[in-house]
Amino acid sequence: MTTDGDAQNKRLQQQVDQLKTQLAQAEKMTALGELLGTTTHEFNNVLMTVINYAKMGLRHKDDATRTKAFDRILAAGERANKITSTILSVARNRSHGMESTDLVSLTEDTLVLLEREMRKYRIQVEKQFAQVGPCWANGNQIQQVLLNLLINARQAMPNGGQVLIRIRPAEDARAVDLTLRDSGQGIPPDKLPRIFDPYFSTKDGPDESGKGGTGLGLSACKDIIEAHRGRVRVDSSVGKGTAFTIRLPLAPSKPVQASFVTSNNQTLPATGTTHASSS
Ligand SMILES: Nc1ncnc2c1ncn2[C@@H]1O[C@H](COP(=O)(O)OP(=O)(O)OP(=O)(O)O)[C@@H](O)[C@H]1O
Ligand SMILES: [Mg+2]
Repeated sequence: MTTDGDAQNKRLQQQVDQLKTQLAQAEKMTALGELLGTTTHEFNNVLMTVINYAKMGLRHKDDATRTKAFDRILAAGERANKITSTILSVARNRSHGMESTDLVSLTEDTLVLLEREMRKYRIQVEKQFAQVGPCWANGNQIQQVLLNLLINARQAMPNGGQVLIRIRPAEDARAVDLTLRDSGQGIPPDKLPRIFDPYFSTKDGPDESGKGGTGLGLSACKDIIEAHRGRVRVDSSVGKGTAFTIRLPLAPSKPVQASFVTSNNQTLPATGTTHASSS
């Protein structure tokens, strides 16, 4: 009897593990789908800007108009560059493991992906980024957490609103806190304890952008943050908004073997060891 029960437990655990792997894969697709949408639209915008200002510069011979045209073309080119670097870093999949990760630039990258969507739904994004050391994290997974939280925030503000993203050192200074606060509808107290449960959703199904409604977003966020030995907290007030705070540990400061390269390119070991600071 017990053996049967054990075997069944083992089978169920295997199924759970399998589903978790599938979920992680689906989450990765969310980021890639986001990328595809962003790239096509933004590149179209960039090209239109470049073409129109190039025409304007050719038509007008005066310096002021030409300088303005070059400024706009440069800005469009820089924006295109920002988008392609983001795509490359997501597509390269960074690493599968944990590494020293700059949470500020990861957040900036994620915002590039959602800029178009936030504009469309009239959501202003305010950033308050303090200087923090690198976190010990898997960049892709944390980017998925940020995407999930930002899309939830956007969906809680159907008529527009504000999102504040704050990054600062945690009180004990061995971790970093990222708070994402929206001015949306809030979460009623009776629902709050269930939002991290798999399949808990108050949405009827995917919205017009094809997002939301499976109820797996926050449960995946929680799994990811816990695997990072971090934690996630939520504060919400109906009619006022919701704030999610994720705390991630700082990267360990690890000893680095210093070496010197001589003028004839020979590498000599250093006499001592230096320590790279994590902050
Ligand atoms: N920022 C928020 N404001 C208000 N309610 C929220 C917010 N974030 C989450 N919720 C509530 O928590 C529920 C669960 O969120 P979760 O992201 O897990 O699922 P979902 O958004 O419904 O679907 P999906 O898995 O496709 O993201 C939501 O259905 C919503 O009721
Ligand atoms: Mg969601």
